[in-house]
Amino acid sequence: MSDLLNKIVERAKADRQRIVLPEGDEERTLQAADKALEDGIADLILLGKKESIMEVAHKFNLKNIDKATIIDPATSEKKEEYAQYFYELRKKKGVTIEEARKKMLDPMYFGCMIIKSGDADGQLAGARNTTGNTLRPALQIIKTAPGVTCISGAMILVTKATQYGDNGLLVVADVAVTPMPDAHQLAEFAVCTARTAHDIAGITDPRVAMLSFSTKGSASHEVVDKVVEATRLAREMDPNLNVDGELQADAALVPSVGESKAHGSSVAGHANILIYPCLEVGNISYKMVQRLGDAIAIGPILQGIARPVNDLSRGCSVDDVYYMIAITANQATFAKNSSHVKLSTK
Ligand code: ACO
Repeated sequence: MSDLLNKIVERAKADRQRIVLPEGDEERTLQAADKALEDGIADLILLGKKESIMEVAHKFNLKNIDKATIIDPATSEKKEEYAQYFYELRKKKGVTIEEARKKMLDPMYFGCMIIKSGDADGQLAGARNTTGNTLRPALQIIKTAPGVTCISGAMILVTKATQYGDNGLLVVADVAVTPMPDAHQLAEFAVCTARTAHDIAGITDPRVAMLSFSTKGSASHEVVDKVVEATRLAREMDPNLNVDGELQADAALVPSVGESKAHGSSVAGHANILIYPCLEVGNISYKMVQRLGDAIAIGPILQGIARPVNDLSRGCSVDDVYYMIAITANQATFAKNSSHVKLSTK
């Protein structure tokens, strides 16, 4: 666990990225920002009123906040420029210039405009805002990465069950974004999650299981057909991807069950990446593994956005924010070399 997080932090230090924290005066966020600035894991842009940010800094005796750039969207000289740019981006959707100006007072939107304008590399928020409020500006402004049509959220699970995955390490998706994905979207999740597992979790040999309640035709239902089709599409999108489905969770993870239910599969029994058939399953099952199995869950790591924007849980700790800054920075590094995420379009 600490090995993986240390690697993530070291990678962030080695290629410092500019990360926006729109909830600049949120207490846990600011304490994590202080440590991130002290350790040099990112150049930070804090949004909010300087006085409120400094008030929190004094309350916690934070010594590094003056290394960050502090921008108050309400008084920023870029406010009008960003409003005009946002208006151009969204006028087809019926947004007026007055609405665009109002949106620029919302730090979540302002932060995404900084990224869109090339003045920052990623954003992290959510200690105070809902997932929807964190994601919507990113989807409207930054949009999806080339070839990706649907974003998703991956979770790194560091479990105590070292006989499964990569010594207990698994990456699972979607746990955060798309309630009812279709086959094409599931296939995208498979390709993007393999990339996240490789880039962020350090999984060098991704083996992707497309999960269902059926293994290789043991049950028939339209939702099983969807997973079978998603497996086919994932192979088409990335012919080098080691992906198999449909597989039940035990057939995906347990070598003896994989061998008996999906004989000859190079994934069954050895999967280190699990793609859930829908968000309900994904969100519930990762939380069950985390709580009942006493596993460490790192994420969600949002994948498929052209530049990284990540969403914190409102129950997050200072450490959660610190490591998510590092993960966002890692993603920003990889996004700059994003030619490696190429999916066929519909
Ligand atoms: N991928 C890519 N683009 C998307 C996606 C997606 N999954 N969803 C929406 N969009 C785009 C739309 O195409 C639209 O673009 P446009 O305006 O340029 O046409 C834009 O985003 C806004 O779309 P809406 O449908 O109006 O967005 P909505 O208000 O429904 O919000 C959101 C989208 C935020 C992703 C929503 O689906 C959502 O809230 N999902 C569930 C999140 C959640 O609550 N997760 C559980 C908690 S997380 C956890 O526990 C780890």
